[in-house]
Amino acid sequence: MGFNDLNMDSHWLPFTPNRHFRKEPRVFTGADGMFFTTHDGRQVIDGISSLWCVGAGHNRKPINEAIKKQLDTLDYATAFQASNDQAFKAAEMIAAMAPGDLNKVLFCNSGSEAADTSLKVALAYHRARGEGHRNVFIGREKGYHGVGFGGMSVGGIPANRKVYGTALLPRVDHMRFIHDPANAFIHNEEPVSQEDYLLELENRILPLHDPSNVAAIIVEPVAGSAGWYLPPKGYLKRLREICDKHGILLIFDEVITGFGRMGTNFGADFYGVVPDMLNFAKAVTNGVIPMGGVICRDKIYDTMMKTDAPQHVIEFFHGYTYSGHPVACAAAIATLELYRKEALFPRAAEMGKVLGDAFHSAFKGLPNVVGIRSLGLAAAVELAPIAGTPGKRAYDIYLDCFRKGALVRPAGDVVVIAPSYIVEKQHIDQLVNTLADSIRANA
Ligand SMILES: Cc1ncc(COP(=O)(O)O)c(C=O)c1O
Repeated sequence: MGFNDLNMDSHWLPFTPNRHFRKEPRVFTGADGMFFTTHDGRQVIDGISSLWCVGAGHNRKPINEAIKKQLDTLDYATAFQASNDQAFKAAEMIAAMAPGDLNKVLFCNSGSEAADTSLKVALAYHRARGEGHRNVFIGREKGYHGVGFGGMSVGGIPANRKVYGTALLPRVDHMRFIHDPANAFIHNEEPVSQEDYLLELENRILPLHDPSNVAAIIVEPVAGSAGWYLPPKGYLKRLREICDKHGILLIFDEVITGFGRMGTNFGADFYGVVPDMLNFAKAVTNGVIPMGGVICRDKIYDTMMKTDAPQHVIEFFHGYTYSGHPVACAAAIATLELYRKEALFPRAAEMGKVLGDAFHSAFKGLPNVVGIRSLGLAAAVELAPIAGTPGKRAYDIYLDCFRKGALVRPAGDVVVIAPSYIVEKQHIDQLVNTLADSIRANA
């Protein structure tokens, strides 16, 4: 297939510079294992698990077979006032994997829906327990929680918020970002910071709103979309303590860190902190079928069920037509089973060290490299921006890598690699060598 065989007049691409894309299209027509086939017949290595989704690699037969079987058995069934067998099984598996008493799963279809769902649960929960005045949300600078109005409002990436003005939720505040410039180079370990990044929350943000008005604080355990920024050691534990002290719900957005990226089931396990709600999506189905969800602690569900309303009354007016879609749930069940059978999470931990070592040995000292961060199976190289055009250097490097057969992820002036958990050393070498060449070529 050539460039001209596709009519590109109708498809408006998401989060993509569309005008430039038309000049240099990048179109996949097949995928297997670690590699894509492109429309012009090239092999491109998937260095980012296709947006952090494809933990088990592409075209995995057990997942494909489970989907086909489900299609022939129960293709779809209404999600409201009835359900399907796959949804119960998937929820049971997910709850069993989650730490502590995170036991109740609300399904949705994406990370954005998970963000909005969790914020709505927080409001409904507080109201149910007689604290309806708790309606302030706190996110963090550079946080990403998708593109719904709720997630966008608590999110902290300026470009994603810039044009939406007063349509963003009121009564939202943001904690300061977690990156300490003294920790520019992080090599397979948690950064240790002399700064206390939560003092501002305790001393300024909470007193400003009064903690008794705060419904929830939402953070990504590791800031993924911003460019793999790692929390300082002890940060999440202390955040948990602050939330407990003030009766504030803590939401972990684990859309990226969930299901193996840190070498554990969840980032919550990696950091030893149990949130009140845990949002997931992406890797839960290996990216094959859209699915998201929010895992809630028992106390949230129990509070919502403790109502004097008659039995026919719905306790939580929320849900999506495709919540717990049987085909998505069948895909999730097969994916989670595959992760377990092939011990892919421990493998992610092991290969994460190989990736981190490769990053630090290949990129340190290259032109414009101002930071390297590795932990879990993801690593980032931060570049000095081109004066006056932030983001251009990383984007040019991304394009150059693609031409050379490697898909990497630009985020501002950071380039991230986050491969599937099946990645081999030779794949890491290919990705890192290609990226090093491109960093030099774009000096
Ligand atoms: C932490 C986090 N939350 C939410 C989302 C949004 O997910 P989706 O694109 O599935 O809506 C993402 C997507 O990358 C994410 O990284």
